[in-house]
Amino acid sequence: MSFDTCRIGGIEAKCRLVRSATFEGMGNYGLPTENLAEMYENLADGGAGLIITGMMATNKMEPRQHCQIRIDDDECIAPLSQVVDRVHQHGGKIVAQLVVMGSAILMPETPEGETRIIFSPSGVTEKVGKWTQESQALTVDQIHELTDAVAKAAARAKKAGFDGVQFHGAHGYLASKFLSPHFNTRTDAYGGSLENRARFLLECIAAMRQAVGADYPIWVKLNCADFMKDGSLTFEESKQVMAWLADQGVNAIEVSGGNTSSLPRKGPIRAIRRTKEPMYFKAYAAEAAALLKGKTDVGVVGGFRTIADIEEALESTDLAFISMSRPFLRQPDLPNRWKSGDTEPALCISCSRCFGAENVDCIFNKKEKEKQDA
Ligand SMILES: Cc1cc2nc3c(=O)[nH]c(=O)nc-3n(C[C@H](O)[C@H](O)[C@H](O)COP(=O)(O)O)c2cc1C
Ligand code: SF4
Repeated sequence: MSFDTCRIGGIEAKCRLVRSATFEGMGNYGLPTENLAEMYENLADGGAGLIITGMMATNKMEPRQHCQIRIDDDECIAPLSQVVDRVHQHGGKIVAQLVVMGSAILMPETPEGETRIIFSPSGVTEKVGKWTQESQALTVDQIHELTDAVAKAAARAKKAGFDGVQFHGAHGYLASKFLSPHFNTRTDAYGGSLENRARFLLECIAAMRQAVGADYPIWVKLNCADFMKDGSLTFEESKQVMAWLADQGVNAIEVSGGNTSSLPRKGPIRAIRRTKEPMYFKAYAAEAAALLKGKTDVGVVGGFRTIADIEEALESTDLAFISMSRPFLRQPDLPNRWKSGDTEPALCISCSRCFGAENVDCIFNKKEKEKQDA
């Protein structure tokens, strides 16, 4: 079942195994490098049903890392379309993940001669261990400017030939911060009730739909819950937001959870050998998929490591797809291996040492390459 061709979230896919968005750090001042194109070619050759890019910067109001891919200007369309073409030539499908980072930004850099602002719904300081991130509360005009930037980015993705777009509504990035009563203490139309806290996300989706037309696939990555000490976004609230997204014609929702302020071991990227809890958002996503059956496709990411578990999840629930991130870094050809009958679990040990600023790769692959080069 996992390896049958299928239609998920409005896209014809090779199979139901999706490469979840994974920041690559392979941009040269925001534009794609040869490394990036080769990495996506490998994923396409390796049999991923479809590939979701690492998060792309959509606006010029906030800082970003110079190695983060951007789609904040029309000049990005031609170079991005070359990457898309190479994926298509290798039989793959590729969806552009669009983000407004807000105060979850890591290693902010501002291009020379420009002024950029780290912003958040209410200017609540973000604390992660010893690290704190101050931010500026957004004005309503700035919110509208960002919504407009997201819509323009979606239109550019369509022009560049991407098979769809995914808006990043999870992991504490700006749309997820708006949903959180911990970080969003606004008293205007963008804060307070769930309806108000969801306004930024829903307005971004509406603006994107307006920009790309009725038939172009729009996906959303969303937290099932924030798993913070004070609750923050709850699963009950998340299910309501998912229902609103489905009503707005979102083609697929990829369920994740947590952020950098979540309780210990409750973030989005977990050390599953230590927690002994693989597939950590499966139950939430399966419940959401049953609820939204016939309205939108629901998938899930987080801790899937064996084809047996993936098959079981697809057969016993209404989930339309299963995503993985870290296993694809270690083994870009994992779907083809599994398809060929080699059903060994993914080699990824979920140590998360692949995190890095530039040229993100599995630490074991890096060591292997260093040995070969020596
Ligand atoms: C190096 C790295 C970069 C990531 N970058 C992104 C990203 O750009 N956008 C996003 O939505 N999630 C990102 N994630 C989170 C993954 O998409 C995924 O939600 C998480 O790793 C759990 O899935 P896994 O257990 O299959 O790795 C990243 C994860 C890793 C390890
Ligand atoms: S560094 Fe660790 S978590 Fe990342 S891909 Fe390699 S084994 Fe997996």
